[in-house]
This record gives sequence, structure tokens and C-alpha cells, in this order.
Amino acid sequence: MKKRVLSGIRATGRLHLGNYLGAVKGMLALQGDPLHETFYMVADLHTLTTPYNPEELKNNVREVVMDYLAAGLDPEKSTIFIQSHVPEHVELAYLFSTAVTVARMQYLPTFKDKVKQHPQNVTMALLNYPVLMAADILIYKAGLVPVGVDQEPHLEVAREIARKMNSEYNLNFPEPRRFATAGEYIPSLVGEGKMSKSVEGSFINLTDDLETIKKRLASAPTDSGSGEVVPREGGVASLLKFVELFQGERKREEYESRYTTTGVRYGELKAELAEVIYQELKPLQEKRREFEQDPQKVDTIIEEGAKRARQVASQTLQEAKKAMGII
Ligand code: TRP
Repeated sequence: MKKRVLSGIRATGRLHLGNYLGAVKGMLALQGDPLHETFYMVADLHTLTTPYNPEELKNNVREVVMDYLAAGLDPEKSTIFIQSHVPEHVELAYLFSTAVTVARMQYLPTFKDKVKQHPQNVTMALLNYPVLMAADILIYKAGLVPVGVDQEPHLEVAREIARKMNSEYNLNFPEPRRFATAGEYIPSLVGEGKMSKSVEGSFINLTDDLETIKKRLASAPTDSGSGEVVPREGGVASLLKFVELFQGERKREEYESRYTTTGVRYGELKAELAEVIYQELKPLQEKRREFEQDPQKVDTIIEEGAKRARQVASQTLQEAKKAMGII
């Protein structure tokens, strides 16, 4: 039997470079593979766990679907769907919530971070985030999850839930592992933390044109361009990481040795980098236009995706309910 794969991204806006390199590239790598069956969703329900604008949500969900399609996710090869269109996820999440403690959820670094970011919004939905994510994955019995390294604690929870459900109720959930890509951690342009939609100035969108990319890179903080040791964190470190990802390791080494000798000219570095990033994004932007011009096609993809996903999801839910004595 083919090994199932599931991944998803929250719908906080258009996808940025961090989503693309950290998650979407992994999704793409697995979708053509004859040994894998791939399910890729937009996690709209997870978007409700932090403050959001209801008027914008629907549009943002669609933007992510379009970005997926533009990046090369192919409905012929992958089941592409929207999380809330498969209500079985939520039902399974409730069943799963009986298998984890509140203390375990409060202990997660991802939860603690969010509590710090939004102290006024420490809701049950936020606490339940990893349980719903476990249901997203396990309802397809997916063993492989292409996501960024920051999601590892959530996968650990999914594995714990799988083990507990299997031993308590004699079910057969796999213990999902992360599928890592080279760009699994994409730093923020502002030089602190990861690239994130919620931090202004930290990201480059997949739909940005050359001028916008130039502007965004231009405001990344730098230093004098030389020194005894190459910075390992901060704006310069972020830029060097982008050089490595888009121009190769040798180019990075070149800049590093210049840093400790003649000095780096950031104006040139940024201009060159903007150009190569744009060259990588241009084909995606062209493909996106095709889908923008054919909204009906996108509607059909979303509908078909939900149908296919529900076939699998409803089976797993039935199994779990039977085993738990509900039906
Ligand atoms: N938590 C993931 C993120 O922030 C999004 C997500 C929700 C997800 N459900 C998932 C990722 C299931 C992989 C599998 O990126």
C-alpha cells in the first residue's frame, strides 16, 4: 500500500518564501512519488486560534489554494482541500482530546510562544491546536508530514496520541514523522526569529514582483560589512542564509571570506539576491495568473478535493468511533 502524506498551512494571508521553502517544496517532492499518496490542505480552522479578521479569512483561504496550485501542487496527483470542508477532522480531534492531558498541552513551546504573543487570547482552541493537528494527520493515517522544523513538537504530540489510541483501543494509527527539506528554517528578514506573516518586514511573498523584493531586502538590517567573525545571527546571518539557499553554498563562502577581509557591499549582495529570488518566483507567478483567470476551475478543484478527502476521513472516523464504543 502507498504511504500517505499530509500537510497543511494556516491561512493567515498569501504564502511567503518561508512557507514555500519549508513546507511546499517538501509537498512537491512527495507528490510525484509513486510510493506516496498525498493530501494537502489549507488549515482554516487552525487560523481561528489567533486573532483574525472573519471578513478576510475566506479570501485568504483561497489565496493559499491559488499559491499551492501556482507552486505546482497538482489536483491530478494530490488531494487538495480545505480543512473545514472535511468536518470529520473536528470530530476525531474531540475523540483524541480524551487521550492527552491539559498539562501536556500547556507545556508545549509552541503554546507558550503564542501565550506570550497574544496574552488576551489564550483560548481552548489554542490549547487544542496540536490535538486538531494530530487529527488532521491521523485521519488519513499519514506517516509522513512535510513541514518546517518548528512543527516538530506538534508531531511529537501526534505520535503520542497515535500510541495511546492504538494501545487503549486497538487501533492502527501510524506514528507520523516529519519530512524535512533544505529550507526547513527560513529566518526573518528583520534578523530575529523565523520568517512570519505576523511580523511586518520579515517576509517575501510568493507573489512579490522584483521591485517589492528589492524593497523588502533593502530594509533588512546589516552592519559595516566586515569584522573578525561572520555573524551567526541577526540580519546579516539571515541574508547569508538566503544567499546559500538561492545562490549556493559557494557564493555564501565567498561572502564570508570577504567579510573577514575586504568587506561585503550589501547593496550589491541585496540587488543580486533580489534578482535570483525573483527568477525562482516568476514561473509561479505566471502559473498563478492562469488560475486567477479561471475561478471556476479552482472551485472544482476545491470541491473534488473535499470529496476525495472525506472518503478516507469518514472511514477512519468510523473505525475510531467503533473502537471507542460510540457505534
Ligand atoms: N501547524 C501547522 C503550521 O503552522 C499547520 C498545520 C495544521 C499542519 N495542521 C497540520 C501542518 C497538519 C501539517 C499537518 O504550519
